Amino acid sequence: MTTAAHEIDILGPEAIRDPSRYFSRLREEGNPVLWDTRYRSWIVTSHAAINEAIADPRFSSDRIAPFIERKLAGPDVDPAIRLAFDVLKNWMVFQDDPSHARLRRLVSKAFTPRSIANIEAAVVVKSTALAAALPKNGRFDLIAEFTYPLPVFVIAEMLGVPEENRARFKDWAEEIAPVVSGGMDDPARYDRAGAAMAELVEFFTGLLDHYAANPQDNLLTALAESRGGEEPLTQLEVLAFCTLLMFAGHETTANLISSSMLAMCQHPDQMELLRSGKVEPAKAVEEFLRWDGPGKSITRVMGEDAEFRGQHLKKGQRVFLVLAAGNRDPDVFAGPDELRLDREDAKKHLGFGGGGHFCMGASLARLETRIALPILLEALPDVRLASGVELEWQQVLNTRGLTELWLETGTGTA
Ligand code: HEM
Repeated sequence: MTTAAHEIDILGPEAIRDPSRYFSRLREEGNPVLWDTRYRSWIVTSHAAINEAIADPRFSSDRIAPFIERKLAGPDVDPAIRLAFDVLKNWMVFQDDPSHARLRRLVSKAFTPRSIANIEAAVVVKSTALAAALPKNGRFDLIAEFTYPLPVFVIAEMLGVPEENRARFKDWAEEIAPVVSGGMDDPARYDRAGAAMAELVEFFTGLLDHYAANPQDNLLTALAESRGGEEPLTQLEVLAFCTLLMFAGHETTANLISSSMLAMCQHPDQMELLRSGKVEPAKAVEEFLRWDGPGKSITRVMGEDAEFRGQHLKKGQRVFLVLAAGNRDPDVFAGPDELRLDREDAKKHLGFGGGGHFCMGASLARLETRIALPILLEALPDVRLASGVELEWQQVLNTRGLTELWLETGTGTA
């Protein structure tokens, strides 16, 4: 039976529980480009169509400006909130070329492969310490104890955020997330996100000034310095990149490490492949990204009317490119619904997006995950899902993440 357009619920229980299957079914049942009447958006579900849309400039990334301009239209907007939204509008992920290409080129001078490689030793030390503190005989939430603290530590170290300030990251990220990850229109969330962004902007403004006066070997110093020189970044652009990095740099990676551990607990034969060294961790990470990675969907807005794969897309309409469905497309992956850590072509996955906006932190996320997983497996020789615990997934469209991941070791009781 085919799902009628009015029955589609991309945030319904089934789509949240098992998005890969839900969106793949939509692709199998009809056109891989279909109209969702509930959210008045196009849904794109095949690997080829997603790649084509990502490369097509008519599919614009400038999707947040209209909401923000409406928000800032009144005369009595608090200047801190105005600045916060201006910063958000300047996130490169919301820009089209040529301004996107310019920004990406300039921030790449600070966020370099060397800055990522330099953090490797610290990732090993931190992962080992976090894993050693996990109970060997008991139950624990892996997200609270390991997968969340690790990426927060990594991005904070790279940026140069002092340790005492790191606890606030979680609250800020949680307030900002619905605007960035949801894609739906709830006006209240803009107010909450605006207030959180205002605090975050104030925080980074202070730190940038500090490092401009006291340079150190970290990203914030490099970004503070990039405000000068021949081709300077503006203060707004630097603040936009700091806040984007902080935001993009931790929750997605936490979700990847968590979903990889979940996948292995559900597929003990695959866990054994990684544990025994028969599969390289870096290769396994690609399959985890393909199979149930954190990049569930990315959003575009039509910059003009377009004929696309037999459908007529109108200017201003929103488009969800469902990476989770493209990653299970049988035209690209043999046996797409099987988790195979030794899969040769897993790297064709769309988990980091593609084209000009391809994730800037991909190599950092890969590095953290390929280091963390073997350390976790070694520290937890008999790890399994805690009995009697239901999995609960975040109710957002763009990312895929568990709210908690309860595991147990030993007898399962402390
Ligand atoms: C497993 C972890 C991660 C996943 C699944 C992921 C996923 C993505 C995806 C799908 C995009 C494309 C968005 C679009 O086209 O609209 C993106 C962009 C981006 N990501 Fe990641 N990301 C991850 C980790 C990171 C990390 C660790 C950082 C930085 C520390 C980062 C920084 C960025 C930035 C700056 C962009 C914007 C690139 C641009 O617009 O040119 N990401 N990410």
